[in-house]
Amino acid sequence: MLTNKHLKYESQKIGMNYFRVAIVLFGAQLLFGLVCAIQYLWPGFLFETLDFNIARILHINALVVWMLFAMLGSVYYLLPDEAGRDVVGAGLGKLGFWVLTAAVTVVVLVYLFIQIGPGKESTIWFINEGREYIEAPRWADIGIVAIVLIFYYNVFFTYIKGRQTGILTVLVADLLALAGLYLAGVFFTDNISMDQFWWWWVIHLWVEATWEVFVGALAAYGLIKILGAKREIVEMWLWIEVLLLFGSGILGLGHHYFWIGTPEYWWEIGALFSSLEPVPLVAMFVHVLYDWGKEQGHKEAVEGEGAHAVSNSPAMAWIALNAFGNFLGAGIWGFFHTLPQVNIYTHGTQFTAAHGHLAFFGAYATILIAMMYLGVQGAYGIKKMTMTFKSKMAIGLITFGVIGMTVALTIAGYEQVLVERAELGAGWDAYFIAQNLTWMKQAMGWRLVMGVITFIGFVYLLWDLVTIGEVEEAKEANELQSAVA
Ligand code: HEM
Ligand code: HEM
Ligand SMILES: [Fe+2]
Repeated sequence: MLTNKHLKYESQKIGMNYFRVAIVLFGAQLLFGLVCAIQYLWPGFLFETLDFNIARILHINALVVWMLFAMLGSVYYLLPDEAGRDVVGAGLGKLGFWVLTAAVTVVVLVYLFIQIGPGKESTIWFINEGREYIEAPRWADIGIVAIVLIFYYNVFFTYIKGRQTGILTVLVADLLALAGLYLAGVFFTDNISMDQFWWWWVIHLWVEATWEVFVGALAAYGLIKILGAKREIVEMWLWIEVLLLFGSGILGLGHHYFWIGTPEYWWEIGALFSSLEPVPLVAMFVHVLYDWGKEQGHKEAVEGEGAHAVSNSPAMAWIALNAFGNFLGAGIWGFFHTLPQVNIYTHGTQFTAAHGHLAFFGAYATILIAMMYLGVQGAYGIKKMTMTFKSKMAIGLITFGVIGMTVALTIAGYEQVLVERAELGAGWDAYFIAQNLTWMKQAMGWRLVMGVITFIGFVYLLWDLVTIGEVEEAKEANELQSAVA
């Protein structure tokens, strides 16, 4: 993680820079999550130093920002590989990276230093825009748009001047949509229904359409790189996934329009199309496991029993986890509460948080971590990267921790549905009665325990990413030497 020594392309060096910042922000995300989890149990914790609302903003914004950094990193990393040439504007790309990193730092410091105060026009411009997940103030919005334009210029013209693979074609189209949608979260209206209407265009159409397509492209690239999977097969899957994802994800948006003052026809639209959303996720799941099994079988037939087809085991493990996690977190946990008949009870309970955690982790954290391992492999020039003890601890603990948190939150949500919503009728008192029942308190306790386990797993992950390059490099040098001798 700390070197670029074997990277030929400037683009890949920029990619590694994005990965480095991303992993630090991931750590910050988890620390702020732990603060929130402690405050659920002891509300006085850090009161008036780091209040829950600010810690929560930092937790979920760090989440979005580290993922965007890792996504930019992944594109800069795979771009020259796919296009067969370096990025057109490496200097601009570097500038964009530093400006974005500086802007993120300033935004975070402002959140920390100005936690309370009046909500005026200037607040939106300089402090906090108040839109969950994308709270960054307006000046930062404008900066982000400028940096994304640089990025898009780089991707587009490298694509035009280089090789136009199917993976890049999908990415070029997808990134335009992804960047364009951000604009829906920039302008301001003081009608809360209208505001929510547009805000969901960013949040839902990102995570359930454009980001998912992005993940499909990354998985396709990863499978070619790691398994030597056939490009025609992988790209055929990718096109099918794109079709299904956009087919269900765009109108699936309706599942957020049930209760915000939009017309009632959204009940039917949302119910139908969002129920179809698990279908592409199954396709993605089958795609990864099918290619993996197929390539493994092929290699064994040619090279004999036990031949390993995998050139980067940690990355492959995270990609396999992505297939499961995406399907479970987004597909299953999403489907649970997507029908209006169910959602009227589950809306905004801990059940939503259970889904949010498992989906973001399963669909995005996993594959972006896989891309970081691919980056390390390239940077150290390793031919076949195997798992270290730390790689295994990282996968084991993080996965166990996140699943544990999900189970705890699901139980808490279930209790809210039964007691707060169904039995007591969802009023103000009902909320507080439900919050104080034993089931809820125990679930919040377990969430904290599982959160700590997740964080220990993260420490292993960071440690592994920093050291695995040298370990594996030395191992390969040794093997080479003993082969010669
Ligand atoms: C990787 C993809 C996905 C991610 C990252 C994701 C994440 C999230 C998050 C964070 C929320 C909470 C938003 C808030 O704070 O208000 C949410 C809400 C929701 N998600 Fe997903 N989701 C994904 C896919 C899906 C899918 C495929 C479905 C349906 C099949 C779904 C159904 C829902 C529903 C119905 C809500 C609203 C919950 C409520 O009313 O409280 N999600 N999602
Ligand atoms: C150390 C581990 C973690 C802890 C202790 C933790 C804790 C929390 C807490 C307490 C909240 C606020 C919930 C509320 O407002 O009721 C939250 C929200 C959230 N966290 Fe985490 N979290 C952790 C890791 C993660 C990870 C790994 C992800 C995703 C990759 C994630 C994604 C989210 C999301 C999307 C929300 C907003 C959910 C919603 O609005 O429904 N968190 N987390
Ligand atoms: Fe959604």
